Amino acid sequence: MLASVAEYRIAARRRLPRLAFDYLDGGAEDGDALRRNSDAYRQWLFKPRVLTDVSRCSSTTQFFEREAAAPLIVGPTGLNGLFWPRADELLAQAASRASLPFVLSTASTSLLEDVRAAAPQGDLWMQLYVQQDRGIAEDLMRRASAAGYSTLVLTVDVPVHGKRDHDTRNGFRLPLRLSPKLLADCLTHPHWCWQMARTGSPQLKNIAKSVGEHADLSRHSAMLSRQMDLTLGWRDLEWVRRHWSGKVIVKGIMGIEDALLAAAHGADGMVISNHGGRQLGSTFAPLELLPGIVAAVRGKTEIFIDGGVRRGSDALKAVALGARGVLLGRAPLYGLASRGAAGASEVLALIMEEMLISLRLLGCQGISDLGPAYVGRDGSRDAAPG
Ligand SMILES: Cc1cc2nc3c(=O)[nH]c(=O)nc-3n(C[C@H](O)[C@H](O)[C@H](O)COP(=O)(O)O)c2cc1C
Repeated sequence: MLASVAEYRIAARRRLPRLAFDYLDGGAEDGDALRRNSDAYRQWLFKPRVLTDVSRCSSTTQFFEREAAAPLIVGPTGLNGLFWPRADELLAQAASRASLPFVLSTASTSLLEDVRAAAPQGDLWMQLYVQQDRGIAEDLMRRASAAGYSTLVLTVDVPVHGKRDHDTRNGFRLPLRLSPKLLADCLTHPHWCWQMARTGSPQLKNIAKSVGEHADLSRHSAMLSRQMDLTLGWRDLEWVRRHWSGKVIVKGIMGIEDALLAAAHGADGMVISNHGGRQLGSTFAPLELLPGIVAAVRGKTEIFIDGGVRRGSDALKAVALGARGVLLGRAPLYGLASRGAAGASEVLALIMEEMLISLRLLGCQGISDLGPAYVGRDGSRDAAPG
């Protein structure tokens, strides 16, 4: 086991060819939103209490009445098969073993039914992108419901794909074509190359199945990037409700007005998210928006957050500021991309261990003890030592 998520990131960079690592790690345009996401966590500092009896301390919490081992969720990431074969199954198993929910992306490279079979006891959530052909989304919701997925995560911040300079620079196109550049990359990353040669190119299997076609990466990735339903609006939450009887979370909220609209339209939860800085190149960090959104909508709907969480202590800061849970995007992927199933499990164990250590050092016995009194903003009077 490595010492930190940062070290798993370095290990992932070593194992993956440049174009795959940049796709995992990079942000949109100049990477301003990406950097700001993590920097925001450095702006908040802890204010611990002492002599509180932390002999018994637990990070357990509940998401929609279901117990989880920590306020963490393995978030949806598409094209995971680019990093390791059967990646979605392995991530779902790692999450299930850690007693955390796993969110499967619409752009997953495994069938949602296979992911369920791999993690029969897991709390699985389904992420939905809505394309112009609404029949695809309707079929995905039907299949996910039949497979026992508990919660739908409707991602609303990708009407078009963000501009990612690194993908242009690296000639990242799907399916991957063996250019001289990729060939050179392969020679210096033989393990990845051998795995890809053995298992074949990843495919967007869920979309293929719901479209009723054979897997065809170039066709189905083009559908995702060019045929999103640009007419999607708040009223469509009613359409979602007609096809999904479980909980519905809207992912991609970045302001109080939209948070209020999500609550008014009956969303069970929302994820404050800028898609990990992969869409708009320059935005506020979700953590910067969290206190204002909590003040506006707490009690009306559940508030989740993601973006830039690399330590258990980062997640605790978000919880102290009012988040019910934190979605992890890149962190488990660094583990998976470096060491497969073992790496994914190790990263989750690492973050959960960091959480428990920090929780005890804060003088808390459990997650419900945490609140705004445990953090202060750097530079503000309430953060200054007395
Ligand atoms: C490689 C990659 C693929 C992603 N694919 C999706 C996706 O298919 N659907 C989605 O809603 N979000 C997707 N996201 C965004 C994540 O769900 C999450 O919002 C973001 O990664 C959080 O930031 P973090 O990576 O700093 O934790 C993706 C992120 C990454 C890194």
